[in-house]
Amino acid sequence: MTMDMTTSLASVELANPVLTASGCAAAGRELSQFFDVADLGGVVTKSIMLKPRSGRPTPRMAETPSGMLNSIGLQGPGIDSFIANDLSWLRQAGARTVVSIAGHNTDEFVSLAKRLYHQPVDVLEVNISCPNVESRGQVFACDPIASARVISAVRRATNPNVPIFAKLSPDVTDITQIARAVADAGADGISLINTLLGLDIDLDTMRPTLGGTTGGLSGPAIRPVALRCVWQVHQAVPQLPLLGMGGIRTGQDALQFILAGASAVSVGTAVFHDPTAPIRIIAELEAELARRGFRSVAEAVGFAHLSAEEQAAFLASRSPVAGVAS
Ligand SMILES: Cc1cc2nc3c(=O)[nH]c(=O)nc-3n(C[C@H](O)[C@H](O)[C@H](O)COP(=O)(O)O)c2cc1C
Repeated sequence: MTMDMTTSLASVELANPVLTASGCAAAGRELSQFFDVADLGGVVTKSIMLKPRSGRPTPRMAETPSGMLNSIGLQGPGIDSFIANDLSWLRQAGARTVVSIAGHNTDEFVSLAKRLYHQPVDVLEVNISCPNVESRGQVFACDPIASARVISAVRRATNPNVPIFAKLSPDVTDITQIARAVADAGADGISLINTLLGLDIDLDTMRPTLGGTTGGLSGPAIRPVALRCVWQVHQAVPQLPLLGMGGIRTGQDALQFILAGASAVSVGTAVFHDPTAPIRIIAELEAELARRGFRSVAEAVGFAHLSAEEQAAFLASRSPVAGVAS
């Protein structure tokens, strides 16, 4: 018997559950020198804004224990150039495409959704983990009302055949409150987590290391926080598919997210030191599932929420899948 690696993000079927993470592989073109991007579950593009932007001041990266801080900001070519160059390349490459959008206010999110209405987009990821200029710069995803306002407006403006995923920030007291708000506002799924806000001090200059002072913390250091968020949100809105991410480096890490309730995972920071990580993780995940007696990804989604008795009853009916290397 072979392993069924297919999964879905709402109405969109994926060949496997491993995608890139927004901002960590541009629009996938750089990765195509290492592997065929069509072999991924999907490519999640860097958050795109309406106009070209140059991002925040340098230095914009700092290494931290088991992770990194970045203050790239939402640097990018703007939506028109993105559609002409990146989106058309992704379509030609045959990749499942998750387009991430970001705006300074609700109107900008709506304009982006409208520009993408007739474009080849499989899933729209709405990055609400950015500052809301209409509300003293408070991050949308830290406020359930602002989050819901953006998601319901984007849902109305987006092609109804395209699922929208709200990308949440872990920098909140209760992430389930935000998850419920975006679910009620019409999100078809939730991506989590974005980076955590952090700071590093350079001991030579005795000043903040990053030009933008603060930055987003990513990598293995944040994995337990990300897993906790996936676990809590799966319990709060079990009907919504989750795209989980935060420090995934191996198939074992990916399996943890799936057991916690993610239907698919994104691999971000790991790509910077191993560009082949997403492809390697697909094979590792398949072996990890087989070793535990699963026959499909779907069987493992949320499995950690079952009682020990329920798990034992399921696994008793299984023997490990033959023919999958472990
Ligand atoms: C350099 C860098 C740029 C990022 N840019 C974006 C972005 O444009 N939009 C977004 O939603 N998330 C962005 N992220 C966050 C990642 O998509 C991901 O949510 C986070 O890094 C956690 O995953 P990881 O630990 O595997 O990197 C960025 C992360 C990094 C490290």
